[in-house]
Amino acid sequence: MRNLRQKAKLGGGKKRIEKQHQQGKMTARERIDLLLDPNSFVELDPFIAHRCTDFGIGDRKIPGDGVVTGYGTINRRLVYVFSQDFTVFGGSLGEMFAKKVCKLMDLAMKTGAPVVGLNDSGGARIQEGVASLAGYGDIFFKNVLASGVIPQISAILGPCAGGAVYSPAMTDFIIMVKDTSHMFITGPEVIKTVLGQEVNFEELGGALVHMQTSGVCHFMTENEKDCIDLIRRLLSFLPSNNMEDPPIEETGDDPSRIDDRLEEVVPDDPDKPYDMKEVIAMIVDNSEFLEVQPLWAPNIVVGFARLNGRVIGIVANQPKHFAGALDAYSSTKAARFIRFCDAFNIPIITFEDVPGFLPGIDQEHGGIIRHGSKLLFAYCEATVPKITVIIRKAYGGAYDVMGSKHSGADINYAWPSAEIAVMGPAGAINIIFRKDIAIAKDPSRRKKDLTSEYREKFANPYIAAEKGYIDDVIEPSHTRPKLVSALEMLASKRESRPPKKHPNIPL
Ligand code: HXC
Repeated sequence: MRNLRQKAKLGGGKKRIEKQHQQGKMTARERIDLLLDPNSFVELDPFIAHRCTDFGIGDRKIPGDGVVTGYGTINRRLVYVFSQDFTVFGGSLGEMFAKKVCKLMDLAMKTGAPVVGLNDSGGARIQEGVASLAGYGDIFFKNVLASGVIPQISAILGPCAGGAVYSPAMTDFIIMVKDTSHMFITGPEVIKTVLGQEVNFEELGGALVHMQTSGVCHFMTENEKDCIDLIRRLLSFLPSNNMEDPPIEETGDDPSRIDDRLEEVVPDDPDKPYDMKEVIAMIVDNSEFLEVQPLWAPNIVVGFARLNGRVIGIVANQPKHFAGALDAYSSTKAARFIRFCDAFNIPIITFEDVPGFLPGIDQEHGGIIRHGSKLLFAYCEATVPKITVIIRKAYGGAYDVMGSKHSGADINYAWPSAEIAVMGPAGAINIIFRKDIAIAKDPSRRKKDLTSEYREKFANPYIAAEKGYIDDVIEPSHTRPKLVSALEMLASKRESRPPKKHPNIPL
């Protein structure tokens, strides 16, 4: 038994372990040791072996079969982990490998604890043929069953090719490591053969590409150690399953703290940008904000923070990019984040400064109607506590979409700087007073007068407050205590919806 266990521990052998280290990568077991609390790992199925006899691998059996699975704790909370071992058949997935992962996922679902997947694999094990495809298929099915029941986190720590990308893609969060991790459906060789295009691994599916361009990846880290640290940090914001609330932590930040700097955030010029992340940092506990997908669709900011120790999911327009306008990507990004928060009982706080949906042929032809409606759908669908603060602009459809009272928000606040109207003054004047301006003696003077009249009438929060669409207009400096109080008040919120199989979100 001890000999066999030792063999399992060595995986593909010393030489391949050395190669792994030379590439700046840890082994599957080293990664688990770093991820879990010391001495908490309990391994399962170390003796599993493949039963393939084709292509000369019948006599190449390595106990464990290329994946280390088991359970342990992170900050004393139960988690399940599988760690693919690139030193064994390139971490490729065969029938028994898949069975191990599925067994783990079943246990995780039954006991209600997160699954962390440490991926480093050449994809389907070619020698095992359809058995390895079936294995992937079984994992995909479990990913879907577990979705919304337990958090699923995927770290990509090496190649992740072919069908191997779809299991991570169906989990809640993907973390990639700069330079060493790659994700793609078809590799550079196939692309060259089929399309004649030349591209290298990094340009095709490196961490930066998936962080910035494709939106596949949620977090990028400099190295594997940072990646593991990030997984631990991310889990500190999440409940273990959908029946639990996220963990409350003592943060030491005064819940009634007011911040006078917030009074100065919004510039006098309504077209001047400011950094919404600074606003967030001034309000949340100890300025600690774990931003999700920071480089993709930066016109919307999403991520986790705490208010008086309670976890919140933040959705905020970012005036620094596209003036905070909503486009297809930002709508998709925020919609997915909201649905995650709703599935796992995380209240949603929205900070709004949105001039509308981004106009343009590209946006219209790219399906902004379809994508924008995802965000609207997600807000309406969410039954967790929803609190919205209008910081500045709330124009047009974007007013409705961004956590308005009408989309089911529980508490809606506005700063005195809020502007709530069907559209901005310049656009509105051109439409409703076009004839008036055309016949005026001094058209530009008339336009100016009408614009300031419109601004005076609509570009404030008081009409919405009169109608009860805004629950109160608050001092910006008092935003934190107001949000802390609303969150405490809403902690016992229960809201149910008509029974149905599932809604049909516009995908
Ligand atoms: C079996 C594999 C393998 C695989 C790698 N190996 N991929 N064995 N099946 N899919 C083995 C190699 O033979 C080698 O074995 C060892 O792993 C290390 O591989 P190297 O090529 O030496 O390493 P490296 O140069 O670092 O390149 C890694 C790699 C490359 C980029 C991942 O191996 C590669 O391109 N592999 C194939 C990737 C791929 O196309 N996968 C898609 C499969 S189809 P030895 O014994 O020499 O150490 C698929 C569809 C699933 O996944 C669909 C589900 C719906």
